[in-house]
Amino acid sequence: MAVGIFDSGLGGLTVLNAAQKRLPDVDFLYFGDSAHAPYGVRDADDVFDLTTAAVNDLWGRGCNLVVLACNTASAAALRRMQEAGVPQGKRVLGVFVPLIEALTERQWGDNSPPREVEVKHVALFATPATVASRAFQRELAFRAIGVDVEAQACGGVVDAIEEGDMILAEALVRSHVDALKRKMPHPQAAVLGCTHYPLMAEVFQDALGADVKVFSQADLVAESLADYLDRRPEMLGGGEPGFLTTGDPRKVSDRATQFLRRKITFEAA
Ligand code: DGL
Repeated sequence: MAVGIFDSGLGGLTVLNAAQKRLPDVDFLYFGDSAHAPYGVRDADDVFDLTTAAVNDLWGRGCNLVVLACNTASAAALRRMQEAGVPQGKRVLGVFVPLIEALTERQWGDNSPPREVEVKHVALFATPATVASRAFQRELAFRAIGVDVEAQACGGVVDAIEEGDMILAEALVRSHVDALKRKMPHPQAAVLGCTHYPLMAEVFQDALGADVKVFSQADLVAESLADYLDRRPEMLGGGEPGFLTTGDPRKVSDRATQFLRRKITFEAA
């Protein structure tokens, strides 16, 4: 029994880690499409095709539920996949909605009409493709009114993280935060809208200042997944747990081990 977790590369490990802590009895099958990362600079059709192929692979291995632990895939592919129809008994979920539910102080799955919320000025940090999709603003508009969102496309950060170059990643994060602050000097909240960014959460918080509440997805997605599986236990599915990559398994395993600070062994997908 395993729940599928998908990302373009290593970022989804932040979600996997939180999900494993929250749900220690649930097995997970992780799929990182490192051969094609980063997704954030690809066009929407390309992201859709790559995401669909990976999700089909996970369904084919017995997972009933696949979580797109990737904002870029959630923004460019999720709605299209759901509208095209998924095989019977299979589901695919994204990472935007739990984050927006937390930001707008909602219960998980609360689909009531949009209303005024506490937070009014939100900074969104995400990949160029996620920012271009405006999916975050669209999902937010379903749930909240009067929230001003300033988005900053954080080019280069995912590549630096995938390459393990954390010094470059830090310099890029600081320059993207500066750029955002020139457009919105006093955000109340900041959303790390890419699953790679929790690996840089301390740098974002430091550059933004202690008075900005930073929303990071991993724990929120894990919490909403726990709630979902409670309501839909049949979605635990079949399949064996493990780690799959389209990239070089040795290199990917080394980086993953470094990020999660425990031994992770990837196999070729
Ligand atoms: N970690 C992914 C996200 O949440 C994708 C990054 C990328 O491949 O550009 O957007």
